[in-house]
Amino acid sequence: MKMRATIMMLACAAAFSAARMQAQNAGADVFNGKCSHCHGADGLANTPAGKAHHVPPFTAPDVLKMTDADLTAIIKNGKDKMPSFGNRLTDAQIQEAVGYIRTLQKQTKQD
Ligand code: HEC
Repeated sequence: MKMRATIMMLACAAAFSAARMQAQNAGADVFNGKCSHCHGADGLANTPAGKAHHVPPFTAPDVLKMTDADLTAIIKNGKDKMPSFGNRLTDAQIQEAVGYIRTLQKQTKQD
């Protein structure tokens, strides 16, 4: 009995992390396809388009303070030079992109 429970738990953990990886990859695909020329692959907006549009880095204090709902609304509706993606991305894709932005924020936090 105990053995079976352990195996079940391991199987669940594996399935869960596979799903998470997939979501993260989908977020990366969206981001690198539609966003990185302005926001930079690392989210720091160190690109010619990023500089031209004065794109703030995702690690800026103001951006770190934003909730997932804030980020989602900006991606959906746009803001100033930020184009709106509400009619080009599904809600699921926007959610994946937000998740990917969170990953970028963690990766570059120390800079
Ligand atoms: C044409 C350049 C451009 C593209 C392409 C672009 N953005 Fe932006 N983005 C901006 C600018 C400029 C801002 C800052 C808007 C402001 O606050 O005035 C911004 C702001 C944001 C913000 C709010 C946080 C912040 O950094 O100020 C999020 C989240 C965001 N963009 C996500 C995305 C995602 C996801 C995509 C791709 C689906 C994307 N952007 C594509 C230019 C762009």
